[in-house]
Amino acid sequence: MTTKVLLDCDTGCDDTLAILYAALHPNIELVGIGAVWGNVTADIAARNSAHTVAMLGKSHIPVAKGAEGPITGRPAEFAYHVHGDDGQGTVGDKKFVARLAAESAAAQIVRLTRADPGEIELIAVGPMTNIALALALEPELPRLVRGITIMGGAALAPGNVTPAAEANIWCDPEAAAAVFNAPWRLRMVGLDVTMRTLLTEADRQQLLNSDGSIARYVGRMLDFYFAFFTQNAFGERSSCMHDALAVAIGADILVPTLAPKVSVVVDTSDGPARGQTICDLRGQYRGYPEQDGAHCEVILESDPGFARHVVAAVCAAGNSALTDGVSAL
Ligand code: RIB
Ligand code: CA
Repeated sequence: MTTKVLLDCDTGCDDTLAILYAALHPNIELVGIGAVWGNVTADIAARNSAHTVAMLGKSHIPVAKGAEGPITGRPAEFAYHVHGDDGQGTVGDKKFVARLAAESAAAQIVRLTRADPGEIELIAVGPMTNIALALALEPELPRLVRGITIMGGAALAPGNVTPAAEANIWCDPEAAAAVFNAPWRLRMVGLDVTMRTLLTEADRQQLLNSDGSIARYVGRMLDFYFAFFTQNAFGERSSCMHDALAVAIGADILVPTLAPKVSVVVDTSDGPARGQTICDLRGQYRGYPEQDGAHCEVILESDPGFARHVVAAVCAAGNSALTDGVSAL
Protein backbone atom coordinates (compact mmCIF):
# COMPACT_ATOMS: atom_id res chain seq x y z
CA MET A 1 0.00 0.00 0.00
CA THR A 2 1.33 3.45 -0.92
CA THR A 3 0.74 6.48 1.28
CA LYS A 4 0.76 9.97 -0.22
CA VAL A 5 2.83 12.24 1.99
CA LEU A 6 3.14 16.03 2.08
CA LEU A 7 6.15 16.88 4.22
CA ASP A 8 6.72 20.20 5.99
CA CYS A 9 10.31 20.67 7.23
CA ASP A 10 12.80 23.18 8.63
CA THR A 11 15.46 21.39 6.70
CA GLY A 12 18.49 20.82 8.82
CA CYS A 13 20.36 17.52 9.15
CA ASP A 14 17.64 15.18 10.43
CA ASP A 15 15.01 16.72 8.12
CA THR A 16 17.33 15.89 5.20
CA LEU A 17 17.26 12.25 6.26
CA ALA A 18 13.46 12.42 6.54
CA ILE A 19 13.18 13.74 2.97
CA LEU A 20 15.55 11.08 1.67
CA TYR A 21 13.65 8.33 3.46
CA ALA A 22 10.27 9.58 2.20
CA ALA A 23 11.46 10.08 -1.37
CA LEU A 24 13.18 6.67 -1.51
CA HIS A 25 10.62 4.45 0.20
CA PRO A 26 8.61 2.35 -2.28
CA ASN A 27 5.46 2.68 -0.16
CA ILE A 28 5.54 6.46 -0.01
CA GLU A 29 4.55 8.91 -2.73
CA LEU A 30 6.07 12.23 -1.70
CA VAL A 31 3.70 14.77 -3.28
CA GLY A 32 5.34 17.95 -2.04
CA ILE A 33 7.55 19.62 0.52
CA GLY A 34 6.94 22.83 2.46
CA ALA A 35 9.81 24.74 4.01
CA VAL A 36 9.43 26.49 7.32
CA TRP A 37 11.76 28.48 9.56
CA GLY A 38 13.20 26.69 12.58
CA ASN A 39 16.55 24.95 12.46
CA VAL A 40 17.50 27.52 9.79
CA THR A 41 15.70 30.27 7.85
CA ALA A 42 12.87 29.28 5.53
CA ASP A 43 15.10 30.22 2.58
CA ILE A 44 17.85 27.84 3.66
CA ALA A 45 15.32 25.13 4.52
CA ALA A 46 13.75 25.42 1.05
CA ARG A 47 17.15 25.30 -0.63
CA ASN A 48 18.22 22.24 1.35
CA SER A 49 14.94 20.47 0.59
CA ALA A 50 15.26 21.22 -3.12
CA HIS A 51 18.88 20.06 -3.08
CA THR A 52 17.94 16.80 -1.39
CA VAL A 53 15.34 15.85 -3.97
CA ALA A 54 17.65 17.05 -6.76
CA MET A 55 20.37 14.64 -5.58
CA LEU A 56 17.82 11.87 -6.06
CA GLY A 57 16.87 13.12 -9.53
CA LYS A 58 13.39 13.90 -8.19
CA SER A 59 13.15 17.64 -8.72
CA HIS A 60 9.59 17.13 -9.94
CA ILE A 61 8.62 17.02 -6.24
CA PRO A 62 7.58 20.63 -5.60
CA VAL A 63 9.26 22.56 -2.79
CA ALA A 64 7.38 25.64 -1.54
CA LYS A 65 8.81 28.18 0.87
CA GLY A 66 6.72 29.08 3.90
CA ALA A 67 6.76 31.09 7.09
CA GLU A 68 9.86 32.97 8.16
CA GLY A 69 8.98 33.23 11.86
CA PRO A 70 6.35 32.46 14.51
CA ILE A 71 2.70 33.14 13.79
CA THR A 72 2.56 35.72 16.58
CA GLY A 73 5.27 37.85 14.97
CA ARG A 74 7.65 37.16 17.83
CA PRO A 75 11.30 37.03 16.73
CA ALA A 76 12.59 33.83 15.15
CA GLU A 77 15.49 31.95 16.73
CA PHE A 78 17.45 29.39 14.72
CA ALA A 79 19.52 26.32 15.63
CA TYR A 80 22.71 26.80 13.61
CA HIS A 81 24.70 25.41 16.55
CA VAL A 82 22.93 22.05 15.98
CA HIS A 83 22.76 21.86 12.17
CA GLY A 84 25.56 24.18 10.96
CA ASP A 85 25.24 27.57 9.25
CA ASP A 86 23.92 25.93 6.10
CA GLY A 87 21.67 23.41 7.88
CA GLN A 88 23.82 20.68 6.32
CA GLY A 89 26.56 20.38 8.90
CA THR A 90 28.59 23.04 6.97
CA VAL A 91 29.25 20.59 4.10
CA GLY A 92 26.34 21.73 1.87
CA ASP A 93 26.70 22.07 -1.89
CA LYS A 94 27.39 25.79 -2.37
CA LYS A 95 26.92 25.61 -6.16
CA PHE A 96 23.36 24.35 -6.03
CA VAL A 97 20.64 26.75 -7.22
CA ALA A 98 17.13 25.87 -6.06
CA ARG A 99 14.02 26.22 -8.18
CA LEU A 100 11.03 26.68 -5.87
CA ALA A 101 7.27 26.53 -6.35
CA ALA A 102 5.58 29.86 -7.07
CA GLU A 103 3.11 29.45 -4.17
CA SER A 104 3.58 29.53 -0.41
CA ALA A 105 3.92 26.32 1.59
CA ALA A 106 0.49 26.93 3.17
CA ALA A 107 -1.13 27.50 -0.24
CA GLN A 108 0.53 24.31 -1.51
CA ILE A 109 -0.94 22.31 1.39
CA VAL A 110 -4.42 23.64 0.63
CA ARG A 111 -4.13 23.12 -3.14
CA LEU A 112 -2.78 19.57 -2.97
CA THR A 113 -5.25 18.37 -0.32
CA ARG A 114 -8.25 19.95 -2.09
CA ALA A 115 -7.21 18.12 -5.25
CA ASP A 116 -6.95 14.75 -3.49
CA PRO A 117 -9.34 14.81 -0.51
CA GLY A 118 -8.78 12.25 2.23
CA GLU A 119 -5.65 10.77 0.63
CA ILE A 120 -2.68 12.80 1.83
CA GLU A 121 -0.90 12.36 5.16
CA LEU A 122 0.49 15.71 6.26
CA ILE A 123 3.77 15.18 8.11
CA ALA A 124 5.19 18.23 9.89
CA VAL A 125 8.71 17.94 11.26
CA GLY A 126 9.46 21.58 11.98
CA PRO A 127 7.64 24.40 13.78
CA MET A 128 3.95 24.19 12.89
CA THR A 129 3.61 27.72 11.48
CA ASN A 130 2.86 26.63 7.89
CA ILE A 131 0.23 24.16 9.08
CA ALA A 132 -1.51 26.78 11.23
CA LEU A 133 -1.49 29.17 8.26
CA ALA A 134 -3.01 26.46 6.05
CA LEU A 135 -5.74 25.86 8.66
CA ALA A 136 -6.52 29.58 8.59
CA LEU A 137 -6.66 29.54 4.77
CA GLU A 138 -8.83 26.42 4.63
CA PRO A 139 -10.80 25.60 7.82
CA GLU A 140 -11.93 22.33 6.17
CA LEU A 141 -8.32 21.10 6.06
CA PRO A 142 -8.87 18.49 8.80
CA ARG A 143 -11.40 16.80 6.51
CA LEU A 144 -9.24 17.15 3.41
CA VAL A 145 -6.23 15.25 4.77
CA ARG A 146 -5.91 11.56 5.64
CA GLY A 147 -4.43 12.70 8.98
CA ILE A 148 -1.50 14.61 10.34
CA THR A 149 1.68 13.32 11.95
CA ILE A 150 4.05 15.65 13.71
CA MET A 151 7.56 15.31 15.05
CA GLY A 152 7.31 17.38 18.16
CA GLY A 153 6.46 17.53 21.82
CA ALA A 154 7.21 15.24 24.71
CA ALA A 155 4.73 13.36 26.88
CA LEU A 156 6.99 11.89 29.58
CA ALA A 157 10.48 12.76 28.29
CA PRO A 158 12.12 16.07 29.23
CA GLY A 159 12.19 18.90 26.69
CA ASN A 160 15.22 19.62 24.55
CA VAL A 161 15.10 23.43 24.53
CA THR A 162 13.71 24.04 28.00
CA PRO A 163 13.04 21.44 30.71
CA ALA A 164 9.44 21.34 29.46
CA ALA A 165 9.52 22.13 25.73
CA GLU A 166 10.62 20.31 22.59
CA ALA A 167 12.08 22.53 19.82
CA ASN A 168 9.33 22.32 17.19
CA ILE A 169 6.66 23.24 19.74
CA TRP A 170 8.85 25.76 21.56
CA CYS A 171 9.49 27.69 18.33
CA ASP A 172 5.80 28.41 17.77
CA PRO A 173 3.52 27.23 20.60
CA GLU A 174 0.54 29.23 19.32
CA ALA A 175 0.75 27.54 15.91
CA ALA A 176 1.19 24.15 17.59
CA ALA A 177 -1.88 24.79 19.77
CA ALA A 178 -3.95 25.50 16.64
CA VAL A 179 -2.73 22.24 15.10
CA PHE A 180 -3.40 20.14 18.21
CA ASN A 181 -6.86 21.71 18.65
CA ALA A 182 -8.02 21.08 15.06
CA PRO A 183 -10.37 18.10 14.67
CA TRP A 184 -8.12 15.62 12.86
CA ARG A 185 -6.37 12.38 13.71
CA LEU A 186 -3.02 13.62 14.92
CA ARG A 187 -0.04 11.39 15.64
CA MET A 188 2.54 12.92 17.94
CA VAL A 189 6.02 11.48 17.42
CA GLY A 190 7.81 13.25 20.23
CA LEU A 191 11.01 13.01 22.23
CA ASP A 192 9.64 9.96 24.08
CA VAL A 193 10.57 7.90 21.04
CA THR A 194 12.91 10.06 18.95
CA MET A 195 15.48 10.37 21.76
CA ARG A 196 15.60 6.56 21.79
CA THR A 197 16.00 6.15 18.02
CA LEU A 198 19.67 6.75 17.47
CA LEU A 199 22.19 6.90 14.67
CA THR A 200 25.56 5.57 15.80
CA GLU A 201 29.10 6.27 14.65
CA ALA A 202 29.05 2.80 13.03
CA ASP A 203 26.04 3.95 10.95
CA ARG A 204 27.92 7.09 9.95
CA GLN A 205 30.98 5.08 8.93
CA GLN A 206 28.73 2.83 6.84
CA LEU A 207 27.41 5.93 5.05
CA LEU A 208 30.92 7.35 4.54
CA ASN A 209 32.17 4.03 3.13
CA SER A 210 29.22 3.59 0.80
CA ASP A 211 29.67 3.33 -2.97
CA GLY A 212 27.04 6.03 -3.48
CA SER A 213 27.86 9.75 -3.29
CA ILE A 214 24.49 10.55 -1.66
CA ALA A 215 25.30 8.35 1.35
CA ARG A 216 28.82 9.80 1.58
CA TYR A 217 27.33 13.32 1.57
CA VAL A 218 25.00 12.36 4.44
CA GLY A 219 27.89 10.78 6.35
CA ARG A 220 29.87 14.02 6.12
CA MET A 221 26.82 16.12 7.03
CA LEU A 222 26.23 14.08 10.19
CA ASP A 223 29.69 14.81 11.59
CA PHE A 224 28.59 18.28 12.80
CA TYR A 225 25.22 16.98 14.03
CA PHE A 226 26.90 14.18 16.00
CA ALA A 227 29.22 16.72 17.67
CA PHE A 228 26.19 18.53 19.09
CA PHE A 229 24.63 15.36 20.51
CA THR A 230 27.94 14.08 21.85
CA GLN A 231 28.41 17.24 23.86
CA ASN A 232 24.81 17.95 24.84
CA ALA A 233 23.02 14.63 25.14
CA PHE A 234 24.72 11.27 24.93
CA GLY A 235 28.42 11.70 25.70
CA GLU A 236 29.37 9.52 22.74
CA ARG A 237 29.27 10.00 18.97
CA SER A 238 25.67 9.51 17.92
CA SER A 239 22.52 11.48 17.19
CA CYS A 240 18.76 11.18 17.35
CA MET A 241 16.78 10.40 14.28
CA HIS A 242 13.80 12.62 15.00
CA ASP A 243 12.20 13.44 11.68
CA ALA A 244 12.57 10.24 9.65
CA LEU A 245 10.86 8.39 12.49
CA ALA A 246 7.82 10.64 12.11
CA VAL A 247 7.74 9.89 8.36
CA ALA A 248 7.82 6.13 8.92
CA ILE A 249 5.09 6.23 11.56
CA GLY A 250 2.98 8.76 9.64
CA ALA A 251 3.09 6.61 6.50
CA ASP A 252 2.22 3.42 8.46
CA ILE A 253 5.56 1.81 7.60
CA LEU A 254 6.56 1.53 11.24
CA VAL A 255 3.75 0.60 13.60
CA PRO A 256 4.37 1.90 17.14
CA THR A 257 4.17 -0.61 19.99
CA LEU A 258 2.46 1.85 22.36
CA ALA A 259 0.42 4.83 21.16
CA PRO A 260 -2.56 5.73 23.36
CA LYS A 261 -5.16 8.13 21.98
CA VAL A 262 -5.39 10.93 24.54
CA SER A 263 -6.08 14.63 24.95
CA VAL A 264 -3.13 16.97 24.52
CA VAL A 265 -2.92 20.64 25.45
CA VAL A 266 -0.06 22.92 24.37
CA ASP A 267 1.08 25.43 26.98
CA THR A 268 1.07 28.90 25.37
CA SER A 269 1.68 30.80 28.59
CA ASP A 270 4.84 32.80 29.14
CA GLY A 271 5.73 30.73 32.19
CA PRO A 272 8.37 28.00 32.54
CA ALA A 273 6.14 25.43 30.81
CA ARG A 274 5.70 27.47 27.60
CA GLY A 275 5.73 25.00 24.70
CA GLN A 276 5.04 21.93 26.81
CA THR A 277 2.68 19.30 25.38
CA ILE A 278 0.56 18.23 28.33
CA CYS A 279 -0.69 14.74 27.48
CA ASP A 280 -3.42 13.18 29.56
CA LEU A 281 -1.82 9.83 30.40
CA ARG A 282 -3.79 9.26 33.59
CA GLY A 283 -5.35 6.16 32.04
CA GLN A 284 -2.03 4.28 31.87
CA TYR A 285 -2.88 2.12 34.91
CA ARG A 286 -6.08 0.91 33.21
CA GLY A 287 -4.74 0.27 29.70
CA TYR A 288 -5.65 3.74 28.44
CA PRO A 289 -9.46 3.67 28.26
CA GLU A 290 -11.12 5.91 25.65
CA GLN A 291 -11.20 9.61 26.42
CA ASP A 292 -14.12 11.70 25.17
CA GLY A 293 -13.08 13.82 22.22
CA ALA A 294 -9.43 12.72 22.29
CA HIS A 295 -7.89 12.66 18.80
CA CYS A 296 -4.13 12.62 19.43
CA GLU A 297 -2.19 9.38 19.24
CA VAL A 298 0.85 9.94 21.43
CA ILE A 299 3.64 7.59 20.43
CA LEU A 300 5.30 6.27 23.57
CA GLU A 301 7.17 3.21 22.25
CA SER A 302 8.48 2.14 18.84
CA ASP A 303 11.33 0.09 17.38
CA PRO A 304 14.58 1.71 18.63
CA GLY A 305 16.46 0.00 15.76
CA PHE A 306 14.55 1.92 13.11
CA ALA A 307 17.58 4.05 12.17
CA ARG A 308 19.21 1.00 10.50
CA HIS A 309 16.42 1.03 7.85
CA VAL A 310 17.11 4.67 7.04
CA VAL A 311 20.85 4.06 6.76
CA ALA A 312 20.24 1.08 4.45
CA ALA A 313 17.92 3.14 2.24
CA VAL A 314 20.38 6.01 1.95
CA CYS A 315 23.28 3.62 1.24
CA ALA A 316 21.23 2.13 -1.60
CA ALA A 317 20.42 5.56 -3.08
CA GLY A 318 23.47 5.55 -5.36
CA ASN A 319 25.12 8.60 -6.84
CA SER A 320 23.80 12.13 -6.82
CA ALA A 321 21.97 13.14 -9.98
CA LEU A 322 23.53 16.60 -9.79
CA THR A 323 26.23 17.08 -12.37
CA ASP A 324 28.45 19.27 -10.21
CA GLY A 325 28.88 19.86 -6.51
CA VAL A 326 27.75 16.81 -4.59
CA SER A 327 28.19 14.21 -7.31
CA ALA A 328 31.77 15.31 -7.85
CA LEU A 329 32.75 14.70 -4.21
O1 RIB B 1 13.31 18.62 18.56
C1 RIB B 1 13.74 18.05 17.39
C2 RIB B 1 13.13 18.70 16.18
O2 RIB B 1 13.55 20.06 16.09
C3 RIB B 1 13.54 18.07 14.87
O3 RIB B 1 12.47 18.15 13.96
C4 RIB B 1 14.68 18.94 14.43
O4 RIB B 1 14.90 18.87 13.04
C5 RIB B 1 14.19 20.31 14.84
O5 RIB B 1 13.27 20.80 13.91
CA1 CA C 1 12.95 19.29 11.84
